[in-house]
This record gives sequence, C-alpha cells and structure tokens, in this order.
Amino acid sequence: KNLAVFVSGGGSNFKSLHEATVNGFIHGDISVLITNKPDCGGAEFARDKGIPVILFPKVKDGSVLSSKDLVNAIRSYKVDFIVLAGYLKLIPTELIQAFPRSILNIHPSLLPAFGGKGYYGMKVHKAVIASGARYSGPTIHYVDEEYDRGRILAQRIVPVLPNDTAEELAARVLHQEHKLYKEVVAALCEERIIWREDGVPLIQCKE
Ligand code: GRF
Repeated sequence: KNLAVFVSGGGSNFKSLHEATVNGFIHGDISVLITNKPDCGGAEFARDKGIPVILFPKVKDGSVLSSKDLVNAIRSYKVDFIVLAGYLKLIPTELIQAFPRSILNIHPSLLPAFGGKGYYGMKVHKAVIASGARYSGPTIHYVDEEYDRGRILAQRIVPVLPNDTAEELAARVLHQEHKLYKEVVAALCEERIIWREDGVPLIQCKE
C-alpha cells in the first residue's frame, strides 16, 4: 500500500512509521510527505530519505495550492491511505471526500477528552495534569471535518504520575504513540480494519 503522511513539526511519529515501513513491520511505503512548514524536522527527514515533499497550503513562491490540486497531487502517487502525524491545519473537505475512511490522525490524549480546537502540543498535557486525571494516552481516529472528532480506532492508556510535568507526561505518551501508530498502520495496510454496521471501526488481531 502507498501512504501519504502529513506533518508540521519534528515528525517523530513520521520517522517511526518510516522505520516500520523500511524494516517490514508495515507492509507499505511512504510515497509522499505533505507539510505546511517546509523547514520542519519532518520535511528535512523526508528530503533526506528521498521522499517527495508537497507544500500545502502555501507553495514556496507564496502562492497557495488549492485543495483540488492537493487531491490530484496525492492521487498521482497512487496513495491508498493518509496518515496525519502532528499536522496542525484542518484537512480540506475535498480531501476527506476523496479518501473516505482512509485518513487517520493521532492525538496525545484519550479522546473525546482534551481534544478539539486549542488542544495541541503541550497544552493538551497541561490540561490533563490540571484536571487531576489519573490516565492519559494516545488516540488514533479517522479524520472528519472537525478537529479530533472522527471515529476512534485505537487508544492506549498511559498513567499520569503524581508529580508529572507536562513534558514528562508528553514523553511518556509519545513513546506509546510511536508503538500504537505502527501497529494501527500495519493493520490498515493489511486490511485488518473492519467496519461494524453501526459505523464503528474495529481492528482484527493477527491470527
Ligand atoms: C504528537 O503528540 C501527536 O499526537 C500530535 O502531534 C504530535 C506530533 O509529534 N498530533 P511528532 O512531530 O510526531 O514528534
């Protein structure tokens, strides 16, 4: 399967997914990277590995790539699935419609808690700690038109420790993000996701 990955930042999830495609844990290839930040760590890593990089929405000369052009560009790489890994912009409706049930995002809290507009980066972990919640952890969900609101596919529980700083909690959650995303994208590429009649997606375990 061919994957497109979207990043805006350091791209540690992207790097870990890339490694999993190279070592065969994921039966797929990252065919193209899309970013709104041409100099971010994720984009640099992609260029280093020879993965084509598309700038969206702003192109280098300051012009804007339309959503339709983005869809066509992604299609030209014969992309089967789209994986968001720390992409901080909303995904255009055209793309969601062009790739139904094929776009995943990872969020560093147990959605629906601590998700939605305004909950990104360290803000998520600060809010979790301030709430007194005992558990947090990553959520992988399908992407729809709203931030962090699509169908939940997988979650993993991470404890919040009594004197945690946001940075400590973030690091503990990120470690699990890398593991969970690999497993879920592997399942996706092996067509081990089934949709229950009521629209709930489930992951089938390997035999
Ligand atoms: C992760 O915490 C992810 O859950 C969120 O953005 C962060 C990206 O981190 N959506 P990285 O760029 O993969 O290191």
